[in-house]
Amino acid sequence: MSALARRAPTPQRVNPAPIVAVASGKGGVGKTWFSTTLACTYGRQNRRTLLVDGDLGLANVDVQLGIRPKSDLAAVVNGWIDLEAAVTPVLGGPSKTGGFDLLPGHSGSGRLANVTMEDVAGIVAGLATLAFHYDRVILDLAAGVDAQTIRLAGAADKVVVVTTEEPTALTDAYAFIKVLRLHNPLLTPSIVVNMADKRLTGRKIYDQLAKACEAYLGVRPPLAGVIVRDTAVPECIRAQTPLPIRSPGAPALDDVIRIADQIAIDPA
Ligand SMILES: Nc1ncnc2c1ncn2[C@@H]1O[C@H](COP(=O)(O)OP(=O)(O)OP(=O)(O)O)[C@@H](O)[C@H]1O
Ligand SMILES: [Mg+2]
Repeated sequence: MSALARRAPTPQRVNPAPIVAVASGKGGVGKTWFSTTLACTYGRQNRRTLLVDGDLGLANVDVQLGIRPKSDLAAVVNGWIDLEAAVTPVLGGPSKTGGFDLLPGHSGSGRLANVTMEDVAGIVAGLATLAFHYDRVILDLAAGVDAQTIRLAGAADKVVVVTTEEPTALTDAYAFIKVLRLHNPLLTPSIVVNMADKRLTGRKIYDQLAKACEAYLGVRPPLAGVIVRDTAVPECIRAQTPLPIRSPGAPALDDVIRIADQIAIDPA
């Protein structure tokens, strides 16, 4: 029996939750932390939220959250279980206290190696069905522009590209947007500038990226928001506790809450 079927019946929506993919060109810019904080923030707003660890090679959402899931996407890809059977409740599952559901990438069973495009298509189809049980679906992706990651991002309703103020992160963010739009010209990602020294400097960095996209790709990605560098972030990761639970007054959390409102698309 599936995890969703085992739990209290989940009301099914008429329309599926929008899928928001969190991507980047360069690694280590804060995608996973942002995704978990976003999921917990939506949970606290009483939105039923599913967080998906779409970093198929180096899944680590479970580690940031300090949980040991019993099943994972690796088991789904291996054909052992259905997608919904891998759903693991975090902080008691979707609730106003910040809980949400997680589709873990792995559960200590090893990495998901050699994921084929067919496997990815299966995950995309499964997510489209699962999304009918949620208000929000957040997909934390691997860094870079490999075919699997671009395919996953291309299936989302909204893509948020995370960058930092570093020139290498910016050029890689630009490359990601370029490749994504070759795959799906209808998607114009929003930008998050993370670990900004100040909100104003982050905004200037966004302007540089937006101008380059406008000049060379013919599209100006909107700003989803700037998140300041905040010592509470590494502290919450070390404590394996989401930021809204550990440091509800953290400046970086104020920024994520603003972005959560900015990028929200409500299902009908
Ligand atoms: N706003 C912030 N302030 C301070 N530190 C931050 C902030 N955002 C992220 N970090 C730090 O950046 C590090 C990388 O974060 P995270 O693992 O979420 O990045 P990632 O983009 O998911 O990496 P990968 O590409 O490897 O998946 C973390 O150790 C975290 O402490
Ligand atoms: Mg990550």
